[in-house]
Amino acid sequence: MRYPPGRFKDGLVTASPRGGVLRSRWMPSLQRHVFVCINERAPDNPKGCCMLKGGVDVRDRLKAELSARGLSKVIRANNAGCLDQCERGVTVVVYPEQVWYGRVTADDIPEIVEKHLIGGEVVARLLLPDQPHLAGRTRFPALEIGAAVK
Ligand code: FES
Repeated sequence: MRYPPGRFKDGLVTASPRGGVLRSRWMPSLQRHVFVCINERAPDNPKGCCMLKGGVDVRDRLKAELSARGLSKVIRANNAGCLDQCERGVTVVVYPEQVWYGRVTADDIPEIVEKHLIGGEVVARLLLPDQPHLAGRTRFPALEIGAAVK
């Protein structure tokens, strides 16, 4: 699904041959920021690492999904170094709500994008345990589209 040209919260989406492209006069004001661990260790390191579990594939699929949906300017995907969840990688964390996902594969990305990054609903089956900051919340604001530019 691509979003049609229109106004996002902090910018103007203008028409292009490939669909909506965000053009903003301001610093990017992201609605969500996603970090994907691609840390690499030696194959014999007992801690393991997300690189050898497919971290780059997860990151690339995420970037591709965001681009295909015309969302790259409002949801940013970035590499991360070790996020200290190595045994449960590939580790992905979504801000601003700080939702941690573990054992993420590239095939999980469409669900994360659709449900969480766009819809605001946590993908419970991938949630890492021990996240008291969430206080049991499984829903967050959906992506804002159509809001007026100030
Ligand atoms: S290597 Fe990915 S969380 Fe440590």
